[in-house]
Amino acid sequence: MTASLIPTLPGAYYTDPDIFRQEQERVFEVMWFCAVRSSDVPTPGKFRTVQIGRESVLVSRARDGAVKAFLNICRHRGAQLCLEAEGEVKRAFQCPYHAWTYGLDGKLVAAPNLTKMPDVDRVEYGLVNVHVREWLGYVWVCLADKPPSFEDGVVGACTERLGDAEAIGHYDVAGLSVGRRIVYDVAANWKLIVENFMECYHCATIHPELTEVLPEFADGLAAQYFVGHGAEFGEDVKGFTIDGSEGLDLIPGVGEDQDRRYYAITIKPTVFVNLVPDHVIIHRMFPMAADHTIVECDWLYVPSVVESGKDVSASVELFHRVNQQDFDACERCQPAMGSKVYANGGVLVPSEHHIGAFHDWVQEKVGDIVAGS
Ligand code: FES
Ligand SMILES: [Fe+2]
Repeated sequence: MTASLIPTLPGAYYTDPDIFRQEQERVFEVMWFCAVRSSDVPTPGKFRTVQIGRESVLVSRARDGAVKAFLNICRHRGAQLCLEAEGEVKRAFQCPYHAWTYGLDGKLVAAPNLTKMPDVDRVEYGLVNVHVREWLGYVWVCLADKPPSFEDGVVGACTERLGDAEAIGHYDVAGLSVGRRIVYDVAANWKLIVENFMECYHCATIHPELTEVLPEFADGLAAQYFVGHGAEFGEDVKGFTIDGSEGLDLIPGVGEDQDRRYYAITIKPTVFVNLVPDHVIIHRMFPMAADHTIVECDWLYVPSVVESGKDVSASVELFHRVNQQDFDACERCQPAMGSKVYANGGVLVPSEHHIGAFHDWVQEKVGDIVAGS
């Protein structure tokens, strides 16, 4: 018989800058990373900058409408090209230092005295491209020279969780519109946030509103514990809202078996997908330091709901509150990760044992480096 309690990762995994650096190199900078919503860069010249591992990445849209992502660094002497988190350029990105200028396709198009340097190849000295994929209406980027399979890694995570390759398609996530975005600045390691999302042992204690809507969560078994399982709404619950009142327009493709249910997916390393019949909630994490993570959370609705200006606040409020409750819990744990009490880690109860697989995965990625060495 398996022991009731199995160990977590040692505390150093949540505090040690060397381990965080390994994660940057071996996880965030080589896996597919969900960067921005495609509608954040709706037209040519609109851009967003995001932190992925140790790199700043510039996501933009070229003249032909294709999404592009570049390392946000001037090829001349290395000035950061765009300092803003978001913005728009007319025709080109111009470096504010010596005015090297790059087209929306990344090519070097102008620089002071460039015509007197005919040997300078404009593609070679263009911005460095990174790999881009669009899926679920998001721009996913990979900084590795040879990206891993998107189908196996990203799409596969959804299929594995939902137990059916077609299931995610019913929500038409790419066709939904952003009804609300909330950005959370969380003073906790990204893995605490993942672990928290994967279990529901805490639901009865800290999520009174959520357990009202999803009564089975009060028993502590997360939807992510069973393959293909969606937690059912309580009998008197009309919608996935703060008070169980009616939700918004149903997503048309959602099947009968998916109606009145909540599904949750973790796409490693940094994405959570939450599916309910009338909206989809997507969390994207940006790990900034061992003890600091920014989480961008989008609430997505059928476009007509957003266009008509319907009040989505009762809908948004439920998971916003869940987020606050969860992130407070993570922040409460973070300082303890450096304590001698947690030097060898804590423990997982049986309903959390599946988190052990996540820990094995992290250890495999990071390797057997000794903390603090
Ligand atoms: S560093 Fe960008 S133009 Fe010189
Ligand atoms: Fe939670």
